[in-house]
Amino acid sequence: MNQTLRDFPGAAPAGEPVTIDFEGAPVRALAGEPVAAALFAAGIRTLGRSTKYHRPRGLFCLDGHCASCTMRIDGRPNRRACMVRAREGLACERQNAFPSADVDLLAAADWLFPRCPAVTLRWSQGGDIGAACGQLGSKA
Ligand code: FES
Repeated sequence: MNQTLRDFPGAAPAGEPVTIDFEGAPVRALAGEPVAAALFAAGIRTLGRSTKYHRPRGLFCLDGHCASCTMRIDGRPNRRACMVRAREGLACERQNAFPSADVDLLAAADWLFPRCPAVTLRWSQGGDIGAACGQLGSKA
């Protein structure tokens, strides 16, 4: 089990072992630790998909600021998993994906709509992709 987030300075003190429900599968956690940390320790890196291009999303700020870890927790959508404390019986699911966050058919949106509109044109002309994106800004 990966302990890196649990050993991080400032991490919540470890509580007693509990079991949370991750999309129907039991995951061991420590009471009081962030749900996102428990899932990370269990090897789960993709916590959901972005709403627009369905790109994988996971831990980023660990402080409730970025919304990269939003999940459906106890039936409520768009909760930040890094801010919700684990407790016995808590249920969490990934969202914005069909049929699952690991194999998301809706990720075809990312393929259909290029990340940077100028990339295709500049690249086909032998141009610099990084410069093209820098001029237009990147889309998330
Ligand atoms: S990781 Fe940024 S809000 Fe949870």
